[in-house]
Amino acid sequence: MRVLLTGAAGFIGSRIAAALADAGHDVVGVDVMLPNAHGVDAEPPEGVQLADVRDAGAVASLLDGVDVVCHQAAVVGAGVDAADAPSYGSHNDYATTVLLAEMFAAGCRRLVLASSMVVYGQGRYSCSEHGVVDPLPRRRADLDAGVFEHRCPLGGEELTWQLVDEDAALRPRSLYAASKVAQENYALAWAEATGGSVVALRYHNVYGPNMPRDTPYSGVAAIFRSELEAGDVPRVFEDGGQMRDFVHVDDVAAANVAAINANRDGFTPANVCSGRPISILEVANELCDARGESSPVVTGQYRSGDVRHIVASPAGAAELLGFRAVIDPRDGLREFAYAPLRG
Ligand SMILES: NC(=O)c1ccc[n+]([C@@H]2O[C@H](COP(=O)([O-])OP(=O)(O)OC[C@H]3O[C@@H](n4cnc5c(N)ncnc54)[C@H](O)[C@@H]3O)[C@@H](O)[C@H]2O)c1
Ligand SMILES: [Zn+2]
Repeated sequence: MRVLLTGAAGFIGSRIAAALADAGHDVVGVDVMLPNAHGVDAEPPEGVQLADVRDAGAVASLLDGVDVVCHQAAVVGAGVDAADAPSYGSHNDYATTVLLAEMFAAGCRRLVLASSMVVYGQGRYSCSEHGVVDPLPRRRADLDAGVFEHRCPLGGEELTWQLVDEDAALRPRSLYAASKVAQENYALAWAEATGGSVVALRYHNVYGPNMPRDTPYSGVAAIFRSELEAGDVPRVFEDGGQMRDFVHVDDVAAANVAAINANRDGFTPANVCSGRPISILEVANELCDARGESSPVVTGQYRSGDVRHIVASPAGAAELLGFRAVIDPRDGLREFAYAPLRG
């Protein structure tokens, strides 16, 4: 199939480009080479054309003969402050609306969209007394006393984490998350209006070679990695018991290939995760061990907006797309301890 791949020069997009080519697809890669991601005046890598997804004319000419669009282009990261909002609105949401309009005009009816676990806000929690509950926000007094688990709204019991599936409510808690939810909503409405097909892949914590370094926007694995490289030990917030799902970028690329090959009708959201939950302390320990460094420091510090646990169910992606991650984060993170980082 002929695939238009946006964000093809990015951390994830560049691995998808390689995986699609390996799977025998004809890839049209485009990227605008945002300075925040690539530095000022960066040239697109070989095989990637310079184009802005917000430019309707450029998108129209790129869609010629395209069967499916794999849309990775976005401004990423949690955002530093409200000044970032127009950039998310423009590169993530406006660009997606332009793409959808031009796909409609060109008769292209299939989209694979890079979404994110951030659409869920926080994870799923259950109480030993009351079952699954919507947790209370964490109280300052608890956090100061080192009680990091959420409490039950009914009896105040400490809650335990559960797997989040795709039916969970979408509750964005950052500007970036709001922009990813809006991308999904535009794509869902487009699928309903046009009879088109959309697979929204909700990536969990992606890591792997060429991940961006320790910018305010990069993931915790890259931050720990950069701390180790600088001769420091990783500093772990809270008690390190925060649970996440770390998924290797090559598995994310494989999920995109699976979504393109699956050819589903309507709107299909799917978690893209390893299915092997890991705590933040374990992540830091794996990286330290692999580099032969001393153990991480658990600081007990907290940031009030942080999500305690968010762990995905891999069942939907397996059932609907036939995708199962193959890289165990405990192996992948050890390799990541020495992988090159970007920028
Ligand atoms: N890295 C993660 O952990 C993670 C997690 C969940 C979701 N995602 C999503 O995955 C996708 C890829 O993210 P990434 O980590 O590879 O980030 P990245 O910054 O490395 O790649 C994004 C690319 O998109 C390009 N881009 C941005 N706006 C564009 C526009 N208007 N036109 C053309 N190109 C544009 C950038 O130049 C960049 O090369 C994004 O949609 C992101 O929201 C990433
Ligand atoms: Zn309870």
